[in-house]
Amino acid sequence: MENLAYYNGRITSIEEMMIPANDRGFYFGDGIYEVAMVFNHKIFALEDHLERMESSAAMVQIQLPAPREEIGRLLGELALKVESPCQFLYWQITRGTSPRNHLFPDPQKVTSNLYVYSKPWGGVEMSDTYRLISVDDTRFLHCNIKTLNLLPNVMASQKAKEAGCNEAVFVRDGYVTEGSHSNVSIIKDGVFITHPLDNLILPGTERKHMLAYCKELGIPAQERAFTLEELAEADEIIVSSTSHPSMRAMELNGRPVGMKNPELVEKLRKKYLEGIGQ
Ligand code: PDD
Repeated sequence: MENLAYYNGRITSIEEMMIPANDRGFYFGDGIYEVAMVFNHKIFALEDHLERMESSAAMVQIQLPAPREEIGRLLGELALKVESPCQFLYWQITRGTSPRNHLFPDPQKVTSNLYVYSKPWGGVEMSDTYRLISVDDTRFLHCNIKTLNLLPNVMASQKAKEAGCNEAVFVRDGYVTEGSHSNVSIIKDGVFITHPLDNLILPGTERKHMLAYCKELGIPAQERAFTLEELAEADEIIVSSTSHPSMRAMELNGRPVGMKNPELVEKLRKKYLEGIGQ
């Protein structure tokens, strides 16, 4: 198939998939999601994504529709059905289908819904020309859960686009948390610095991988919050996500930034490319 959508056992193209309006994802965003890349028909870092899926679901008390391993197997099988070897794979699990009511439906009667889609992806993109704007982080205090509730992220992302930028960087109480759909890390004096894992950021898989690469390469790393001023004065700013693993920022709020330690960025990128077999 050119692309694929899956919903509770039914398979169609993405365009043809129909989802009941009573899916609680529709009314409440009552669900969690994951995004992974598929290279050569194999899901990259699948275990990391399954682990985060499990923890997100547990934090909002959603029962997985099947054991984690079974979901992993199913995702792998679905990725084989799409012709393109390189894919963008999305899946979400909502609390179930039930008439609108804030209260959870009875888990004996209503089980969670699994929606998956996979579409061709152009390949790994690593930009050196990212433009950023900073925006107030007005999100709730559960940013570590990969929930479907992304309205502030959507607003911030649009604001960035309207400012001619690629990504918006959230700032809370003077400290950089993360991007609207990415983690934001810096390099200063040879040290890789990234926000600690807490309720203010999503535990990004690429953030995790970069920390592991730093360890392997002997690059000192610190997991600590940094200020907007530190971001502006960093030697490098790396914006990372599964689909855009290493975007190097050259502008923040209209001013030139970073771009002062290309060698270190190159080392991290090389590790990533080795990891995906390229
Ligand atoms: N977003 N922080 C936020 C708010 C994100 O939405 C994402 C990814 C990340 C990076 O996580 P990871 O490295 O695991 O992709 C951090 C995905 C790609 C999305 O919503 O499309």
